[in-house]
Amino acid sequence: MGIAIISPGRDVTHWKNIFQRLDDAIEVQVYPDISNHETVEAVLLWQHPKGILKEFPNLKLICSMGAGVDHILSDQEIPDQIPIVRIVDDKLTFSMTNYTLMGILNYHRQLVRYQENQKQQIWDMTNPEIDIHVGMLGVGALGGDVVEKLRLMGIPVSGYGKKPKEDLTYPYYFGDQLQDFLDQVNVIVCMLPLTKDTENFLNIDFFKSCNKGSYLINVARGKHLVEEDLLLALEKGYLSGALLDVFRQEPLPKDHPFWRTEGILITPHIASVTNPEAAAPQIIENYHRMKNSQPLINTIDPILGY
Ligand code: GLV
Repeated sequence: MGIAIISPGRDVTHWKNIFQRLDDAIEVQVYPDISNHETVEAVLLWQHPKGILKEFPNLKLICSMGAGVDHILSDQEIPDQIPIVRIVDDKLTFSMTNYTLMGILNYHRQLVRYQENQKQQIWDMTNPEIDIHVGMLGVGALGGDVVEKLRLMGIPVSGYGKKPKEDLTYPYYFGDQLQDFLDQVNVIVCMLPLTKDTENFLNIDFFKSCNKGSYLINVARGKHLVEEDLLLALEKGYLSGALLDVFRQEPLPKDHPFWRTEGILITPHIASVTNPEAAAPQIIENYHRMKNSQPLINTIDPILGY
């Protein structure tokens, strides 16, 4: 019995090798070369062909290859009652935190402005720092770590999420307190899970409600952002700029206006890429737990969507 890796278009040889090193008793098959559907008890998915899970009659565990599970839950045909787990690991958190801190500090210390000045040999010592108060949308495993690190650095930060949270030692807003949250902050980081409630969350009404000239960082999913609304918000001055790592269509099409919009910085969905060495052990751990009917780790609630 074993695992099927279904991640079309990606070279997953490394994953397969690590799984076999960790437990060579587990049969590892890789899509599209799956010859034995009956032996597949767990699947590891990234952007799988929708509907494919029906082909595995003995499936008992669904694993996401990343932190997000929206790519799984958007498949209307995933079998009911099969637990879904995601990746939570220190390496993924480390990368997400250092990327986000880079974006925040880059804005705070205006590196882009100095790069531009350098091209024209301009020595301008005015206004070397922008005062910031960071607003973290989503304070789960990833967002929570960024908040912790910002606080260690002495940077003011507030959090916002869907539900109340207890025992937080920093300002936290939830549900209909969004405006109170936005009133406090001027750098907004989107780390929300993508669900039907959060799709298009970053829209023109949201941007109008921000402190004028706020800065946006989106490291969550492209579908959180209404892209034409961002262009409008920059034009109107609701926002002063944005750092975007995720897009509705990836790779970002060559003719997309974001490539050429002043104030927008783009990276190609690299903020935090799952490292197979770091993540594979927890998948094998969950596989063994599933086989031994033990509680799984890093499960998600399919109703909540995260
Ligand atoms: C990446 O986007 C992930 O979900 O891990």
